Amino acid sequence: MKKWFAVMGDPIEHSKSPAMHNAWFEDMSIDATYIPLHVTPDQLESAVAGLKILGASGWNVTIPHKTAIIPYLDELDELAQKMGAVNTVVRTTEGKLKGYNTDGIGFVRSLEEAVGVSHKDKPVLLVGAGGAARGIAFAMQQQGYGHVTIANRTVTNAQMIIDEMGMGRAISLQQAEETLADFSIIVQMTSAGLSTGNFSMPFLLDRLMKEAIVADIVYNPLMTPFLQAAEEKGATIVTGLGMFVHQGAIAFEHWLGNYPNTNSMIAQLKAQLGGN
Ligand code: ATR
Repeated sequence: MKKWFAVMGDPIEHSKSPAMHNAWFEDMSIDATYIPLHVTPDQLESAVAGLKILGASGWNVTIPHKTAIIPYLDELDELAQKMGAVNTVVRTTEGKLKGYNTDGIGFVRSLEEAVGVSHKDKPVLLVGAGGAARGIAFAMQQQGYGHVTIANRTVTNAQMIIDEMGMGRAISLQQAEETLADFSIIVQMTSAGLSTGNFSMPFLLDRLMKEAIVADIVYNPLMTPFLQAAEEKGATIVTGLGMFVHQGAIAFEHWLGNYPNTNSMIAQLKAQLGGN
């Protein structure tokens, strides 16, 4: 029987996930389809029940449902539990709904694909302490990154993540700006740089080392002001596109058992987003 998958969110029209997964199904000759579902918060519980009854093999969950969906699932993966957020639901062989979070690991994979795996013992600066930042912090810890500092406008929010991780330290944005030369990997995870945002830089990159690797989790626009400034300083930059593609690829692997071609997908989306 044809398998089917979905992404639920509100809004959902902008999502690039259906095109990405359907392209992978076609390339790999998999008899499956992936559809966008507009689900408002008041419809979430019945939508989950509906997908369960109607036989979806799995689905992605996006804003604003990543945390709200948890009570309606049967099981949670350890990392999703820690993050308190789910972006992927898998129907297990026993017919249970199990929640995973592939965002953070997707980021780590994208970083390592771009720059190699030899940076785990280097000092990492995570900028931001919202939902996305939490996911990346826990995933980096799980993947063996041992020196993590979190900078945030509200330092107590960063401190909460540090306390939960049981390692690292929390600093202000000003301290981050002043001590930037101490860090080898810098990850921009605030709402800065978003096309809808009304500010562009959490702090200035005057003290950035040219040997540093600078990543942003935003992929639209591909080149955020933060990445542009980093590139001008001669640093290696990693856009948010790899994270998006790898979070989808990891979900795909949970559902179907194999890893799709991320390189050609990144190239295709880059062309669409105006990169070269
Ligand atoms: P997401 O789920 O995308 O991570 P979020 O949970 O709303 O979004 O988190 C937004 C992040 O951007 C937070 O780290 C926030 O800082 P605070 O914890 O101080 O709110 C950061 N942020 C938002 N607006 C900002 C601004 N004008 N300057 C600096 N940081 C900002």
